[in-house]
Amino acid sequence: MVKKDGVLFALSTICTHLGCIPNWTASSTTFECPCHGSGYYDSGVYLDQK
Ligand code: FES
Repeated sequence: MVKKDGVLFALSTICTHLGCIPNWTASSTTFECPCHGSGYYDSGVYLDQK
């Protein structure tokens, strides 16, 4: 569950690469996949691949 700008919504935390579960990283406020390094904004939008 994410609350952003007063809006509460649910994200499916399944990486679009190979289906791993990205972890929330508070220091960068992103979801980071432990598998191959994909990242997602707290909105669920793809960030980058490291
Ligand atoms: S499954 Fe997430 S980066 Fe590969």
